[in-house]
Amino acid sequence: MLTAVGGALLVLSTWLSFRFGANMMVAASICMTEIVLLSLFGHFVSTILLPVIAIGSLDYFFATPVFSFRVDIASDFWALIAFFASSSIVSWLVNHVRRLGAIHRQQAQLLDLTHDSVMVRGMDDTISYWNRGAEAIFGWKADEALGEMSHSLLRSRYPIDFEQIKQTLLESGYWEGEVVHATKNGSVVATATRCSILCVKQGVPTAILETSTNITERKRNEDAVGHGTRFTTIGELGTSIAHELGQPIAAIGAESSAGLRWLNRDSPNINEALSSLQHIGAECRRATEIIRHVRAMTKRKPLQVTSLAINDVIRDVIPLVHRELLNHQATLKTRLDPDLPPVLGDPVQLAQVTINLVMNGLQAMAAVANRARELVIESRRGEAGEVLVAVCDSGAGIAPNDAERLFEPFFTTKPEGMGVGLSICQAIVQSHGGEIRIRNNTEHGVTVEFSVPAIGAHDGAL
Ligand SMILES: Nc1ncnc2c1ncn2[C@@H]1O[C@H](COP(=O)(O)OP(=O)(O)OP(=O)(O)O)[C@@H](O)[C@H]1O
Ligand SMILES: [Mg+2]
Repeated sequence: MLTAVGGALLVLSTWLSFRFGANMMVAASICMTEIVLLSLFGHFVSTILLPVIAIGSLDYFFATPVFSFRVDIASDFWALIAFFASSSIVSWLVNHVRRLGAIHRQQAQLLDLTHDSVMVRGMDDTISYWNRGAEAIFGWKADEALGEMSHSLLRSRYPIDFEQIKQTLLESGYWEGEVVHATKNGSVVATATRCSILCVKQGVPTAILETSTNITERKRNEDAVGHGTRFTTIGELGTSIAHELGQPIAAIGAESSAGLRWLNRDSPNINEALSSLQHIGAECRRATEIIRHVRAMTKRKPLQVTSLAINDVIRDVIPLVHRELLNHQATLKTRLDPDLPPVLGDPVQLAQVTINLVMNGLQAMAAVANRARELVIESRRGEAGEVLVAVCDSGAGIAPNDAERLFEPFFTTKPEGMGVGLSICQAIVQSHGGEIRIRNNTEHGVTVEFSVPAIGAHDGAL
């Protein structure tokens, strides 16, 4: 249909040119213009047919002899051939560009089908492509976003400095991470974002392709799960409180019985009774500290870390376990390195770790009858500059089958054990940026060793 109308138009315009006395050149220019315009709407067949119709009517009206399709003059013949060639090429080119345009439009439509945002920004941060996904996630329409500076529009907060990201992109061509943006209506959206560098010429970066998946909902769910975890933790915290308060309360009970015995004698020993009261006071202070820590943890307050000497922590622990040592008929030796660097930590928590390890050592030696029940606490410097504390006993040692499970919460081999002592110790040590290890000694018993980074050697994880 279009070819028929177009053909008629070409014949009509050529006849009008002839009628108004124009020459072949003018008529050919008008025909060329018409062919270009018609090619914008036509198809492949019209790119061939329209130049053929145009050349026929030009020949009929302008080439000698006029009103015939004969061409007697060579210059007319070559002029018509040149017109045919150029009009065919122009018509084909127009068609080709149209087809490419259609392919691009189709590809752009495909990019619009994805729910992810696809954005292209120049190296100067100007947005040059913005798909429907971006419209849906961020709220701005493409015509509002195009030409804008991505950073000021989206106020994106990357996990690291964007210059660093650019550097990574230039080096490796790719970066991915979680980004937080502001949307048009002012709400906040979290995305999992992948950036790739686009290079037109080899090695010359021209733009950044940024595809983002909306993970706001997932993040919210994770937070909700986080809340759940928090409650679980509080449940676990209950176990841990029971465990940690059990020791000072037992010690208070034992000290008060001892104090009463000293006072109930025929000749009361006031000094011993006073010493028991002092121990009771110290245990009460420790219990209060443990409770204060629990309160800080439930309110998610940061723990009070100070620069401290680990030897002072160990020395403070000794009076707190002295009654247990007596009860277990065990002796305690210390081998403390006097030249240790200070560590950054929480003295009460580090004391809890040491007490737990001492208690485990004493319990492991309870059945030992044929050798001395000896406990050694040692402090020294590790190879990486860290401070190490080792608690060594002469007990029964660890059965090979149990070795893997000792730090598991609730794993115990003791009838009265809760099985949480070592897992509490591990949590505390790890929160200080250290490690805890347990190993059998070559002869008898076990050594449990934990490390705490020395100040300056490592940034604490607290
Ligand atoms: N010094 C040690 N010698 C031998 N075995 C040990 C020693 N320390 C820990 N264990 C083993 O590791 C297990 C777990 O210790 P953990 O301190 O976590 O729990 P528990 O001592 O059994 O109970 P509680 O929660 O009351 O401390 C113990 O039951 C014991 O089998
Ligand atoms: Mg224990």
